Amino acid sequence: MQTRLYQITPDNTIVLQEIGAILRSGGLVGIPTETVYGLAANALDGPAVAKIFWAKGRPQDNPLIVHISEFSQIYTLVREVPSQAVALARAYWPGPLTIILPKSPSIPDEVSAGLDTVAVRMPSHPLARAIIRAAGVVLAAPSANLSGSPSPTTAQHVLDDMAGRIDAVVDGGPCEVGVESTVVTLAAERPRLLRPGGITLEKLRAILGEVDVDRAVEEQLAAGEKASSPGMKYKHYAPKAHVVIVRGPFSRYAEYVNAHAGADIAALCYEGEEAALQVRAFPCGRRDDPSSQAQHLFDTLRALDGMKIKTAYARCPEKDGVGLAVYNRLLRAAAFEIVDV
Ligand code: TXA
Ligand code: MG
Repeated sequence: MQTRLYQITPDNTIVLQEIGAILRSGGLVGIPTETVYGLAANALDGPAVAKIFWAKGRPQDNPLIVHISEFSQIYTLVREVPSQAVALARAYWPGPLTIILPKSPSIPDEVSAGLDTVAVRMPSHPLARAIIRAAGVVLAAPSANLSGSPSPTTAQHVLDDMAGRIDAVVDGGPCEVGVESTVVTLAAERPRLLRPGGITLEKLRAILGEVDVDRAVEEQLAAGEKASSPGMKYKHYAPKAHVVIVRGPFSRYAEYVNAHAGADIAALCYEGEEAALQVRAFPCGRRDDPSSQAQHLFDTLRALDGMKIKTAYARCPEKDGVGLAVYNRLLRAAAFEIVDV
């Protein structure tokens, strides 16, 4: 299959209609969102959703997020909309937040992967919303990477993984947030953060009061332990290089990295730190600016892949604010390997 690349703006209604028609007829389209690129299909078309799993090589037990463009669409997807969901949506939709609620019978099993809940999100990227509107159907969309590899934050990343496997990719420029949406469940006894993202824990607590943090956010689950969010149990975001997080002040980080220097060794550091390092350095955002780290994390991990790096030593992100999302993703890229220096 030839994958078409569309370069359009949200006011290009003729081409948007063409993209909408691909989705309505059961096709797969890579779409930009403010977080990462998504691989979209009509969420209410089971066989179309099944193709997403095939294209990504995604485990069948990992459910998908349903993307909406108008709040009213949520009423067709879930059994009821609690006041907490309304309050969250008022505060943070459209935006990088996914809310989990008990699902309505309209949700195909392919989307919910056998769970009795469904994940819903209203993205803020103007093209994402224009595409949902043009399709006239809600869209199931996981990140548009091959399962296990870093999420795509440019249309080129999507093509690198998906060319020949999907109908089209829509180029909406580099993603603003750079890591996937925050996932919070309102289907449990108390609100619980399952995946940190652009809407921080502090921002959730400002609306919901108490919010628990799922153990899988910062820790590795034991083999066979049940994950609240199935995606959290898989090795994720992993570049081909072996990634190790080196936790400690920069001077000790630099000492450690320089002691391990070699042609196939890399440093995943912050901007401005390169000069002190005797290995190839990949700066990823600014030290005191977790949003900039989030924005560049996945393209930096992908850049490592192009360079035949054996081991990359990464700086350990602070866990405040959006930093928790950076830490959570990097921890998985490193398969939970941390060295304290
Ligand atoms: O920012 C994002 O959320 C992007 C863009 C494209 O919207 N999408 C995304 O989808 O990251 P994906 O499939 O890569 O990650 C969805 C995560 C997975 O960890 C999955 O296990 C979890 O959400 N999830 C989905 N439905 C769930 C449910 N009903 N209960 C618990 N976790 C769920
Ligand atoms: Mg993903």
